[in-house]
Amino acid sequence: MPVPAPNLYPPFNIVRLSHVEYRVRDLAKSRAFYVDTLGLQVTHEDADRIYLRALEERGHHCIVLVRAEASDVGVLGFKLYDEPDLDQAAAWFADKGLPVEWVERPHMGRTLRTRDPWGIPLEFYVKMERLAPIHQHYKLYRGVRPLRIDHFNMFSADVDASVAFYNEMGFRTTEYTEDAESGKVWAAWMHRKGGVHDVAFTNGLGPRLHHTAFWVPTPMAIIDLLDLMATTGWVDNIERGPGRHGISNAFFLYVLDPDGHRIEIYCSDYQTVDPDLEPIKWDLKDPQRQTLWGAPAPRSWFEHGSLFEGAEPQEVALKAQPIIAP
Ligand SMILES: [Fe+2]
Repeated sequence: MPVPAPNLYPPFNIVRLSHVEYRVRDLAKSRAFYVDTLGLQVTHEDADRIYLRALEERGHHCIVLVRAEASDVGVLGFKLYDEPDLDQAAAWFADKGLPVEWVERPHMGRTLRTRDPWGIPLEFYVKMERLAPIHQHYKLYRGVRPLRIDHFNMFSADVDASVAFYNEMGFRTTEYTEDAESGKVWAAWMHRKGGVHDVAFTNGLGPRLHHTAFWVPTPMAIIDLLDLMATTGWVDNIERGPGRHGISNAFFLYVLDPDGHRIEIYCSDYQTVDPDLEPIKWDLKDPQRQTLWGAPAPRSWFEHGSLFEGAEPQEVALKAQPIIAP
């Protein structure tokens, strides 16, 4: 099934992805990973929660770590353009029979909570508490020097259906992988903010969160993180990379947090703002699709993901096999 034509006049205006809530079993251990190792900045913390931002971000948080019994994902957050967009989003989700709830969220204005048709918990807002810029406070740069949140990648049991739904919301496809045998889309990368993606979908037991990615200034930041993790007790949390992706052309590394939530460190994709940008198609069996240099990803990368709170994953219909490292 070809990817749909972009919806240039969506029912409400999403600016970009914004934040993720990770539920974690040991807050101190997670702090050691996200703050002391990756270098994210704490903007608020108490006994049950830690709020973090990256170095270029002016909004209060891009990750909320919440102390919990289960290691799952509480919500994926998106910023909308203006207040009327929030009401238009509420009406659109309600019209589709999806849950619509106005919730109180610390450090955020009016917040709409809903779910996509497969149960992924989503929240939309316009206003988040703004903080002073710190991107030139170089004494704060440590770890991998994370500049900003870049994208979410989700496992989907039906990528064609996920693409159709998010396309209707105005996400535009930049690249996709097709299974040549069935003609179905196996994975797709879709954006709002003018990079390769804000969201991506990968064929697999879903919905589950595959990873959250952070943009860093240079590939050297990734090499420095590898040296740091390898010598501070985190070597087993390095999963895949470093390398250069075929899709997106970005330099990458995948690491796992103490609860197994996967974080991608991502550097230098390309601009996609043109509304008539033609998506790039890849074949599932192209060895340069995952990694331009040809190295396949390990099996864990195709199978391991984080559950979403309150969403029951479904088996995939499309059984096409990617290339997996031996
Ligand atoms: Fe990614």
